[in-house]
Amino acid sequence: MRTDHPDNVVIERDGRALVITFDRPEKKNALTGAMYGAATRAIHEADRDETVGAIVFRGAGGAFSAGNDLTDFLEASGSGLELPAFGFVEALAACETPMIAAVDGVAVGIGATLILHCDLVYVSPGATLRMPFVDLGLVPEAASSLLLPRRIGLAKASELLLLGDWISADEALRLGLANEIVAAGKLRAHAVAKAERLAAKPRAALAATRRLIRGDRAEVLARIEVEGRCFAEALGSDEAKAALRSFLERK
Ligand code: COA
Repeated sequence: MRTDHPDNVVIERDGRALVITFDRPEKKNALTGAMYGAATRAIHEADRDETVGAIVFRGAGGAFSAGNDLTDFLEASGSGLELPAFGFVEALAACETPMIAAVDGVAVGIGATLILHCDLVYVSPGATLRMPFVDLGLVPEAASSLLLPRRIGLAKASELLLLGDWISADEALRLGLANEIVAAGKLRAHAVAKAERLAAKPRAALAATRRLIRGDRAEVLARIEVEGRCFAEALGSDEAKAALRSFLERK
């Protein structure tokens, strides 16, 4: 089954995997409101469909995602909790279906923080990750201020979130952000094969183990909300507007 969305997201079944492909390669798969909406609905649908073994996130055209569309950020107003990204990250945090990231090329902003919610992460040798929130006059989102230090330690998380350095595939593996480096051409099949393996496991035991590993969901959702308020405040600031304009007018 394959469903093409007009929203730059392709949702398709591949065996027991539900593959969500960000499909806006001319903009490095930067995420628009419509894309968040389509991906969020797909996550909810996967949770309702017992035949789905795992969700696989990937990007089209040699990029995972350049994060939130920066034009949308510049035009955004109101509360961070009203941003379309908020519903998406909330869905990630609450998702009962195992999630797998297959990351090729750039994964920036939410393209990088998304993987913190995934149960398994595979990266191509050319994958590069970055969380440039501070450089944009913004703050971390998707509970990354909680999940990143927990995952890689406070020192390295501070370095990545404060300095905004790029992370190579090798470093992602070394830090424990990724499970394995897989050739770009084999990435999707590799992730789908892992989804099939998960689908074949005893369902209740898998779900219970996942909940134990992921810890207190309420804590994660609470952090998403706190970050959302800070994010909204930052988005309205002069320093964020200047940084966003400078990116969009750089050519
Ligand atoms: N929002 C909107 N457009 C974006 C974008 C984003 N987040 N990321 C990339 N694009 C657009 C570029 O403006 C460019 O569009 P154009 O061809 O119409 O000018 C196109 O995608 C290709 O990007 P380009 O910068 O030319 O590619 P690159 O390979 O040199 O660099 C990135 C790729 C991802 C490193 C760079 O585009 C970038 O830093 N993007 C911003 C990422 C970001 O800060 N995300 C938000 C974090 S909160």
